[in-house]
Amino acid sequence: MKGIKKNMINNLVKQFIDSFGENEHEIRKFFSPSRINIIGEHIDYNGGKVFPCPLEIGTYGIARKNDDNVLRLKSLNMDHQGEISLDNLIYVEENDWMNYAAGMLKFIADEGYHTGGLDILVFGDIPNGAGLSSSASLELLIGEIVNQIYNDGEIQKENLALIGKKTENEFIGLNSGIMDQFIIAVGKKDHATLIDTNTLDYRHIPFQLDDTTIVILNTNKRRELKDSKYNERRSECDLALELLKPYKPEITALCDLTEDDLHLLENIEDENVRKRAEHAIRENARVYKAIEALEENDIETLGSLLVQSNDSLRELFEVTGPHLDSITKHANSFEHCLGARMTGAGFGGCGISIVKNDEIENFKAHVAKGYKEDTGLDAEFIISQVGDGVHEL
Ligand code: GLA
Repeated sequence: MKGIKKNMINNLVKQFIDSFGENEHEIRKFFSPSRINIIGEHIDYNGGKVFPCPLEIGTYGIARKNDDNVLRLKSLNMDHQGEISLDNLIYVEENDWMNYAAGMLKFIADEGYHTGGLDILVFGDIPNGAGLSSSASLELLIGEIVNQIYNDGEIQKENLALIGKKTENEFIGLNSGIMDQFIIAVGKKDHATLIDTNTLDYRHIPFQLDDTTIVILNTNKRRELKDSKYNERRSECDLALELLKPYKPEITALCDLTEDDLHLLENIEDENVRKRAEHAIRENARVYKAIEALEENDIETLGSLLVQSNDSLRELFEVTGPHLDSITKHANSFEHCLGARMTGAGFGGCGISIVKNDEIENFKAHVAKGYKEDTGLDAEFIISQVGDGVHEL
């Protein structure tokens, strides 16, 4: 562990003891990353392929058993803190972020694994609500803590991801797909992971760009998924599948269709539903093309696929909004940016861009200026290496 990080963790342990006092159990340290998605957006609930990677920024957790049968939680980022009885793991509005922890404990226990009292201090270095998946990062952090402390690591990472998704869907009420939890569970340093969201097969693919860097573009426009149109988009896709099935009964998901099937969309009367389906089919095809380009080290083509993806998310899927549109427009107008697009759910949050290494400072100045003029907000630029999935430190 590098010096600065080691100091930071020692400091977190100190704050843990200040908050929770001493007991005879061992204090253990964990890290759960955030993520970006390179390409394959809004298709993880359509049986599509996605291509995300974990970042080196994320959520730290300092944890220790307690013998009181409670979950005692404190966050250094959020106001709410408190105690939740393990005998009463239900969603409580005022518990705010702690609901993610309660949901994980509930569903881990429901699957027959061991749970028990825990004191946990949480600290995240990801901007919260920025669309880099702070919630999935927190879910998997709690999951891995319970996995290591009460189950000797016996819960498979893939299963932890599914429990995380269940927490998000059934406890929190957001109908998200599996991408975020899955990449945070299984991700690998210096690799992006091609995940088939239909079968959950996955393949790590080296992701090291030589003379370019991924620059994350934070709009600083907070995104609240629950309040957003995320669930609505999902229903529109479900409806599209239902309407298309009579023409190709063997399909079980929208992304079972290929670009050769696009003519079938003529059978969907509602223009919005037709547009959502077109996005899903074309975006899935772009993922294959992106992998091919990356494997041939053709970063120019990868960049142009990012731009196409962004255009489709704006025009067909309609999940970008003025802030993301502004930041990606200015990014894409910079000569040495090979491509930029929104990443994650959209409706605010972050974009990603591929920028020539020696032009990064000029790029930032260019985007910051244009974005500020359009929106009055300051853009934030994040450069993070690709890190490992959730792990004990
Ligand atoms: C959010 C969801 C994911 C995925 C993306 C869009 O991050 O949690 O499941 O649907 O949006 O690709």
